[in-house]
Amino acid sequence: MAEISKDLRLAKRLLEEAKLVAIPTETVYGLAGNALNPLAVASIFETKKRPSFDPLIIHVSDLSKVETYVTDFPAPLRKLAEVFWPGPLTLLLPKSSQIPDLVTSGLDRVAIRVPNHPLTLELLTSLDFPLAAPSANPFGYISPTLPVHVAAHLGDKIPLILDGGPCEVGLESTIVGLEDDKITVYRLGGLEIDVIEAVVGKVSIKDHSSSNPQAPGLLESHYAPSTPFVLGNLEELIPQYIQIGVPFAVLSFCKNWESVSNSKQLILSEKGDLKEAAANLFSHMRKLDELKVEVILAELMPDFGLGKAINDRLNRASVKS
Ligand code: TXA
Ligand code: MG
Repeated sequence: MAEISKDLRLAKRLLEEAKLVAIPTETVYGLAGNALNPLAVASIFETKKRPSFDPLIIHVSDLSKVETYVTDFPAPLRKLAEVFWPGPLTLLLPKSSQIPDLVTSGLDRVAIRVPNHPLTLELLTSLDFPLAAPSANPFGYISPTLPVHVAAHLGDKIPLILDGGPCEVGLESTIVGLEDDKITVYRLGGLEIDVIEAVVGKVSIKDHSSSNPQAPGLLESHYAPSTPFVLGNLEELIPQYIQIGVPFAVLSFCKNWESVSNSKQLILSEKGDLKEAAANLFSHMRKLDELKVEVILAELMPDFGLGKAINDRLNRASVKS
């Protein structure tokens, strides 16, 4: 079983030996390996059972480290990096030959970010290579926001989980790049669109209603619990499921449902705070999944700010009728 500790020296040694270490970030835990070593990168794909057409994000300690890994850093994207790094923002930049093709699945851009977590920043600063790190969950399952989440699925496959506590943001980074010179958002995430637009003006959001080979994290079914997940109006859904007698649990935004026992419902934020809801989303989804009911009923958040990114994850987790 993986050790769960804050042992940075061990983490550094393992990574230098091309082994994998789970690392905390402000968004979700990552499954990290030396991004410049194709063997380490290959073992990330294998450990996660991730298809090789789904490229990885590389993590660096600060903006100055980006230059060697890219051939160009367009001004608007640099501006975003200056304002939001370290933070939940990933930039797609033209890759240099330093980055193995396996990292980018053969695409000509590499995804880069500076994560905002003190332990991981210290680790990155101590290494002389960047870390490739997808979320530390089996492909398609809910992303981990606690060390125990990582241990549950990958604990017997990796030697160390660096314990950085619960992830503060709780949603993956927002992915941004340039397309036809326009700032384009490829994945909604922990950095809100309006916050980005306040710095660089209007951005376009790529429609990911169908599978997108450019960013398979956006495949329609993703971030999904094993229990069927049904999204809709809880006021209508709850009585329906009570009536047909199917065992269910409820993921509610801010309201407690009196007709449902407290052991079968979780509230994302009693005060209706989207930031708190985002931080709780994945761990609540996991807890409800563990109840082994036949269906999880959930509702959408208000469609602004972080609510948009939460709704994106809820939609991808849900069964389509
Ligand atoms: O917050 C995060 O971004 C977390 C933490 C660990 O940093 N990482 C994360 O990684 O969510 P992952 O692998 O689960 O999701 C990365 C997404 C995938 O959807 C992938 O397709 C997309 O980034 N991506 C990576 N490189 C890309 C590239 N070169 N072009 C387009 N999309 C890319
Ligand atoms: Mg992921």
